[in-house]
Amino acid sequence: MTTHPPDRLDFSHSAPVRLWEDGFAADPHRYYGALRAQGPVGWAELAPGVPAYLVTDRRAALDVLHDDETFSHDPRAWEETVPADSPVLGMMRWRPNALFADGAAHVRYRSTLIDVFGLVEPHDLRARVHRAVRLLVGRIGPRGEADLVGDFAEPLMALVFNDLFGLPDSQSDRLHSSIGKMLDGGAQASEGEAEYARYVLDLIAARTERRGDDLPSRLLDHPAGLTPEEVTWQVFLTLGAGYGPTANLLSNTLSRILGNPLYYSTLTSGARPVMDAVVEVLHHETPLANYGIYYVRRPVAFHGVWLREAVPVVVSYGALGLFAEREVTDGRHPNDASHLSWGAGPHACPVKQHTLLIVTEAIERLTQWLPDLDPVLPRERLAWRPGPFNRSLTALPVRFSPRGADRPGEPQ
Ligand code: HEM
Repeated sequence: MTTHPPDRLDFSHSAPVRLWEDGFAADPHRYYGALRAQGPVGWAELAPGVPAYLVTDRRAALDVLHDDETFSHDPRAWEETVPADSPVLGMMRWRPNALFADGAAHVRYRSTLIDVFGLVEPHDLRARVHRAVRLLVGRIGPRGEADLVGDFAEPLMALVFNDLFGLPDSQSDRLHSSIGKMLDGGAQASEGEAEYARYVLDLIAARTERRGDDLPSRLLDHPAGLTPEEVTWQVFLTLGAGYGPTANLLSNTLSRILGNPLYYSTLTSGARPVMDAVVEVLHHETPLANYGIYYVRRPVAFHGVWLREAVPVVVSYGALGLFAEREVTDGRHPNDASHLSWGAGPHACPVKQHTLLIVTEAIERLTQWLPDLDPVLPRERLAWRPGPFNRSLTALPVRFSPRGADRPGEPQ
């Protein structure tokens, strides 16, 4: 049995805060408040019987994120402690990619991603986003009503990634529908996972055979010499890390803009930039709410708590925004430096600038095409998907004057 200093809190017999309960999706900040009341590190459950340390204090979070001698990203020792059918394994299981690697293996994988995304020029990405918005407005514009999650944010990310992968738009529906089934987590989740795997495997097989001017081809030709199998895993990670969180950042920001006349009335005049709303979201409802997952390499005393091996240490980005616990900011506007929503240290999000460009361009373009978006529900009646990791709206229904896709802002 491991001994620990008597002045350190050992949670093994405490009742955890249950992040898998329905109430968490409805009011996460109540749960974060309960965790903060326990100190810089609280005791939570990610699924029934799956405990975790939740880090809710900025200083403690930075200590985790920057100390890769104490904290590892490798979940394999933890995996042996959870049942094979645990619902969190899909998000937390080890794979040979940058997110689950430490040290030299991590640097090797991560550098390939940084290099290939570095070759995507901002003007090129902007053009791809504009094309995707135009396509989607072509679909929803004539209807005069839409769900901005299922009809806009998610298919937009499928179109943009599919395009970066060098595939025709016809393939993006395949990507959207397979990831959609997976994210819903319902009866069709494993079918969705299999379809998604088939999409990526077909893509890498095609690019191994014949290169194109696209991300997978650049990964295959990278001097780090990744095997096709390793490229497959980096593409899985890119899509997994990028698709859901970015679609959620987009729809969470749209809901904040549409629910606040201060934003929406000035959006087309440019008085209040979209980026302000994005930053508010990164503070109050950041999309990757609890997905900075680390493991101590040996038992250690940390900010008053005794951390044990093979128990996840989760940096709660959702609890960390400077103003996360309250909507009113006393007249001060939260700024981009005072949240940690992109992570920090060796695993910090390598694609932050691309993501911000996608989200701001998509919103600006959409509101040019459809300038009178009117939310069907007040913001407080919108529903959020359950689960500990993501902050994700189930739907964002809107009405607007029907438009054609050929003339922005012009009624049909
Ligand atoms: C195009 C969209 C995106 C892509 C391709 C992407 C890709 C990645 C990748 C590959 C990693 C792992 C890096 C590593 O382990 O070295 C990562 C980490 C991370 N990303 Fe992103 N990301 C995207 C969007 C987002 C969004 C929207 C957020 C949330 C605001 C986000 C937050 C994070 C965080 C917090 C981490 C670090 C997690 C940790 O502490 O382990 N990312 N991202």
